[in-house]
Amino acid sequence: MREISPQQIILATALQEQWPRLDILYINAGDVTHKPLGEWNEQAFDRLMNTNLKGPFFLIKALLPMLSNPSSVIVCGSVNARIGLPQSSAYAASKAALLSLARTLSAELHPLGIRVNGLSPGPTETPALNKLSGGENEDKLREDIRALVHIGRLGTPYELAKAAVFLASDESSFVVGIESLVDGGVGNL
Ligand SMILES: NC(=O)c1ccc[n+]([C@@H]2O[C@H](COP(=O)([O-])OP(=O)(O)OC[C@H]3O[C@@H](n4cnc5c(N)ncnc54)[C@H](OP(=O)(O)O)[C@@H]3O)[C@@H](O)[C@H]2O)c1
Repeated sequence: MREISPQQIILATALQEQWPRLDILYINAGDVTHKPLGEWNEQAFDRLMNTNLKGPFFLIKALLPMLSNPSSVIVCGSVNARIGLPQSSAYAASKAALLSLARTLSAELHPLGIRVNGLSPGPTETPALNKLSGGENEDKLREDIRALVHIGRLGTPYELAKAAVFLASDESSFVVGIESLVDGGVGNL
């Protein structure tokens, strides 16, 4: 029985040819679908969970032999895992599970010199916002999302990147198993 999917094997093989040792793994891809409970079907649920949870899990497994000692793995969570935002049910659950994975794998992998941490963005200016609106009422959606943010604006990808650089580098060598919230206060205020 095959243990990891062909896609993960192909990616690991392709990476191995160019970079046989990895110092940093940042797992960013996410299915950001938000919709009311009644509109979910099993196929859409499975696709979201495959992208946001199963994919990262087996990707880390596939790349494990290539991770250096020391190295840093960062998984991209979301502040949605901490708040009860309507229509985010499956998405928030997937990110909560992914952040849990960051903690458990931290304990399991730190003896190999691999630190695992979560980085949870709050509302951030990216193409995901267009996907959420489906092209309709985008200004209204943007205003509703902005209203959630205590410091009064969306974050920028650059602000996320600065936190990622910290977690990726030796500057955070004593940081393991955390969730770094970069969210303008949405999760804590
Ligand atoms: N923007 C926010 O406000 C926000 C807030 C909290 C957390 N996040 C998280 O931040 C991460 C980046 O999101 P983003 O805001 O930059 O959104 P984005 O612009 O929609 O980027 C998501 C990326 O994931 C890729 N992707 C989705 N499903 C995939 C799959 N099955 N296989 C491979 N790639 C896939 C997308 O590729 P395609 O474009 O080709 O589909 C896209 O490049 C995600 O994990 C998201 O959940 C974002």
